[in-house]
Formats: sequence, C-alpha cells, structure tokens
Amino acid sequence: MNSRIFRGRSDRGVSERAVRWHEGKTMRLLTIESTCDETAAAVVTDQLEILGSVVASQDELHAAYDGVVPEIAARAHLDRILPVIQSVLQRADTPAERIDAIAVATAPGLAGSLLIGLVAAKTLAWLWNRPLIAVDHLQAHVYACRIAAQRDIFPCVGFVVSGGHTHLFHCRSALEFETLGGTIDDAAGEAFDKVAAMLGLPYPGGARLAALADRGDRAKYRFPRPLLDDSRLAFSFSGLKTAVRYAIAGPGRPLESAEPLTETARADLAASFQEAAVDCLVGKGLQACRSTGMRRLCVGGGVAANRRFRERLTAACDEAGIETIIAPLEWCTDNAVMGALAFESLRAGRIAQLDLDIVPGLVRQPIG
Ligand code: KG4
Ligand code: ZN
Repeated sequence: MNSRIFRGRSDRGVSERAVRWHEGKTMRLLTIESTCDETAAAVVTDQLEILGSVVASQDELHAAYDGVVPEIAARAHLDRILPVIQSVLQRADTPAERIDAIAVATAPGLAGSLLIGLVAAKTLAWLWNRPLIAVDHLQAHVYACRIAAQRDIFPCVGFVVSGGHTHLFHCRSALEFETLGGTIDDAAGEAFDKVAAMLGLPYPGGARLAALADRGDRAKYRFPRPLLDDSRLAFSFSGLKTAVRYAIAGPGRPLESAEPLTETARADLAASFQEAAVDCLVGKGLQACRSTGMRRLCVGGGVAANRRFRERLTAACDEAGIETIIAPLEWCTDNAVMGALAFESLRAGRIAQLDLDIVPGLVRQPIG
C-alpha cells in the first residue's frame, strides 16, 4: 500500500498533488453512493461534466414491507455495487487508469448500506492508488443544485427534503453547513410513503401519491399544518399522517375496518394531504431565509421532485424576492452525480485515510 496517498489532510504532498492535477488536466472522479436503497456510481469531471451515471434501485425488494429493510438493502448493495461501478466506467468510456480520485458517501444513512459503498471505494482507492474522499450525503443533495446551476450558489439556505431527512441548513460554502432545524418525527418523504400506503399505493408511494393528487380536490379535507406557525425551524409530519388515517377509518379505528374508498375520495385525500405537507415545507423554507437573511434557497432530496412543491415554493420565493434553485428531477432522488461535491473537498485538501469510517447518524462537522 502506498501510505503517502492516505496520510490525510495534514499531508501537504497529497494536497499539492491534488491541486497540481486540478491545474494540469481535467480530472475524472468516480463517485459511489449507497447510503440507503439505491446503489449508484457516476464519473464526473472537475468541470462538473457528467460522463456517466448509473442508479440501481431496490424499490421492488422493499415494496412488500412498505419501507426499506436495512439488511435487505445491504445485501442488495453487495450484489450490485461492482456491476454498477463496472457499468458506469463503460458508459463514461473511462478506463480505471483515467480515474483520478474516488469519492464515497459516508454519512448519514443505514450502517450496513454505507459500509458496502465505503469498502468498495477503499478497495479501489488502494488498488488504483488514488485519493479517497468522503462525501456527506445531505451536503451532496444541496450540491445537486450547484451542478445544475453551473455557477456558485453559496452562501444559501440548503433544504433537504427526502425519504430519510427534512432539514434546513445555513450553507456558508459547499462544505460548511450549520443545521437550522429539521423534523422532530417523520421525514416528509416517509409521510408521503406512509399515506400512499394507506391509499393502497405500492412503496415508495411519493410520486404515485402526487400523480393521484393531480386528480383530487386540495381543499376537500382540512388537514393540520403542524408547527407551521411556530417560531422554531422544525417540522412534524406524524400528526398529519394520523389525521389522514382518521379521515379514512375514523378516530382510533384501524384502517382495516374502513369502508373501501371511492376513486374520488382517494384522489381528494391525496391532494389534501399533499397540500398540507407542501404548506409546511414552503412555509419553513421561507422562514429559514428570513431568519438567516439569505436571499437564495437551494433544494434537493426525493420530495423536491414533487411538482406541486416545486411550483408553490418557486411562486412563494418569487413573491418574497428569494432566488430558488431546485435540483433537476433526475438528481432529486439518490444518485452519485451529486457526489461531485468531493471536488470541493479535494481543493480544500480534505483527503481521507484508509481508516475512514461511516457516520450513520446526523453530524455536521466536516468528515473525511
Ligand atoms: O432522496 P431520496 O431518494 O432518498 C433519501 O435520501 O431518503 O428520497 C426518496 C423519497 C421517497 O420517500 C419518495 O417517496 C419521495 O422521495 N419522492 C416523492 C416524489 N418522488 C420521490 N415524494 C413526493 N412527490 C414526489 N414526486
Ligand atoms: Zn438522499
């Protein structure tokens, strides 16, 4: 093993070499993402050109359980990680020798899932003798906006709305995130998925619920907007979820005892739930901008693919004179392209060592 490569950020030799690479020629980065239930890899240049991107979804494996089963996810990553990496190198027409660095999402996420990506990345970094860079998955969701915008977007308020997280950050730079607030119970995507399941839609039901909502009456049911008028930058979706359950089955009664819903009732429930969730998300996004004085809001994560949310947020921000950048649809849900954030770490000399570990929980200190 070439220990020089892995001596870490204090190693001036490695940092200088990384900078020289950057100045001398176009760098190609292999990024790996396996934080939850997508196995993904991408090849991206330091000009943020996407040479290849592959995402292997596991939706069909978890559908029977109405949610991600961590052990099934980890085993599926194990099966898929090498074919996904091989496939992305082929698509990017990039032989291993042309890869200059390897990035991997190490936090936050499911421990078993994170470990598979990390071990793959470490092995390749060691085998190919290339620098290894740790990526924070939530920072990467916001960085999807930077890649799409093709210009600097920092400082800004970063808003990650996904199946696992609903968090607001004051982003001073691509790598300096201060948590402003987040959900105190379910994530927004989790609530979309649970309500979708109540309406008989298969997991993950967020996008299907949104399609059903298009045919429904948003004002039919007046569901609560938890914490919307609260001064804290916090979200709560658990009570909203229960309100939908009560609307279907009656207070305190099991869903199984409910009369079958008509198509109109299903669509109205979907539309009314979505409107309540979107009200909370839009309200808190604006509140975060007001409280930080930021005039730019950058949004990523699976729920940011929701058309009603995109429309409402853009309209509200326009009215308030706040610039909105929402990740393009294909980079909202988990992908490895957003791992191009690693170029920022590389420029800052933040190169990981081979003893790099995962951090499954939420942390906001720099990693790697
Ligand atoms: O970012 P992501 O792929 O995974 C996490 O990091 O959690 O987000 C997945 C979540 C799922 O809950 C999915 O139902 C939700 O994003 N989602 C949507 C839509 N598309 C995906 N929720 C609402 N509307 C959509 N169009
Ligand atoms: Zn995610």
